[in-house]
Amino acid sequence: SYNGLNLVPQMGWDNWNAFGCDVNETLLLQTAERMVQYGLRDLGYQYIVLDDCWSVGRNESGYLVENPKTFPHGMKYVADTIHSLGLKFGMYSSAGVFTCGRYPGSLGNEQKDADYFAAVGADYLKYDNCFNQGQSGTAQISFSRYNVMSQALNKTGRPIVYSLCNWGDDNPYDWAYTISNSGRMSGDVYDSFNRPDSRCPCTEAIGCAWPGFHCSVMNILNKMASIQSRTMSGYFNDMDMLEVGNGGQTDNEYVVHFSMWAMNASPLLIGTNVLTLSPANLAIYSNPAVIALNQDPSASAAVRKWRYFVDPDETGEGEIALWTRSLNNTDQVIALLNAANTSMMMNATMNDIFLDPRTAGAYQAPPQLSKTWDVYDLWANRMSVAEAGSIINGTAMNVTVNTNSTLTRYNA
Ligand code: GLA
Repeated sequence: SYNGLNLVPQMGWDNWNAFGCDVNETLLLQTAERMVQYGLRDLGYQYIVLDDCWSVGRNESGYLVENPKTFPHGMKYVADTIHSLGLKFGMYSSAGVFTCGRYPGSLGNEQKDADYFAAVGADYLKYDNCFNQGQSGTAQISFSRYNVMSQALNKTGRPIVYSLCNWGDDNPYDWAYTISNSGRMSGDVYDSFNRPDSRCPCTEAIGCAWPGFHCSVMNILNKMASIQSRTMSGYFNDMDMLEVGNGGQTDNEYVVHFSMWAMNASPLLIGTNVLTLSPANLAIYSNPAVIALNQDPSASAAVRKWRYFVDPDETGEGEIALWTRSLNNTDQVIALLNAANTSMMMNATMNDIFLDPRTAGAYQAPPQLSKTWDVYDLWANRMSVAEAGSIINGTAMNVTVNTNSTLTRYNA
């Protein structure tokens, strides 16, 4: 970690997906209280992040000023109250002259703004990409622009998690780990599992999560498949805020969305109205085994081992895939992903789990293969009945995947 922070992916809540610019002090503080009541804080969701649209401009000394109508007690009061609940406070700006919502941006005012964030008691900064005056187009130009704020935050002396939001512009996964704690790797998520629409006119699944576009869960997941190697302790590929609870997907689809974000060590930021969250969707956000997978100290990337299209138009509709990940204690996790809109028998063999397609020639069977494995189904919250203790070299694990996915953890 470049600043010693964020050794595992950040978890919390951000108002943007559910509320957009309709944000104020009351919403943040009521949400914070409810997060504590629901046990979400104790499960690890610690950052309450105020997204765009909070500032009315700058004062005579050039410092940002919060909107007195929506933040009548000032921003420090919000931070202090959030801290008193045992939570942390996140704020938002843009590496541009305006934010994406056309509020004041920080380009050219980085140190003043970093000092403001530190003075009010922010613990986290989400830093966007709008109105960047054309300072993008190469990794070096984007790096320089984001690095100014990185240095400014360091200078404040306050530990502040630095979350880049540049939508995958100029491949942040190749450079942002030296100056930040996470980097958005795609355009904005929207609340759709796999239906490209006019906001995401995407017909090819791989790499289809372009800057400037809205991207379905499957668009973002498939882009992740090509860049996962840059995940490390202190820097995570940010697949964007969670949509679980916002109503555009089935509960099964939300299980897949949450599972695959956890599997890929993405930050987990709740992006819905916690005050009206259904018990079923609260249960998705609260699955301790899936959270533990996300927060594993390995900070390791998941690998997509194979994918097949069941639907020939290759839009990301109708595909099935196997993802795997190795954890710190040598446990192996597999996700059998069924996005084919039909129930089907899927299986994973030990070769599937251990053979890395990127290094296929160098494959050596690990010693564990001769052993018997325990199998744990992270969503059924139990040992998998049919397979427990019976996964042996050469034996396929067959699972009927009725819903959209299954997440399974093995240990030798
Ligand atoms: C961009 C970001 C979003 C959100 C909005 C706010 O679109 O990618 O996550 O912060 O700006 O305007």
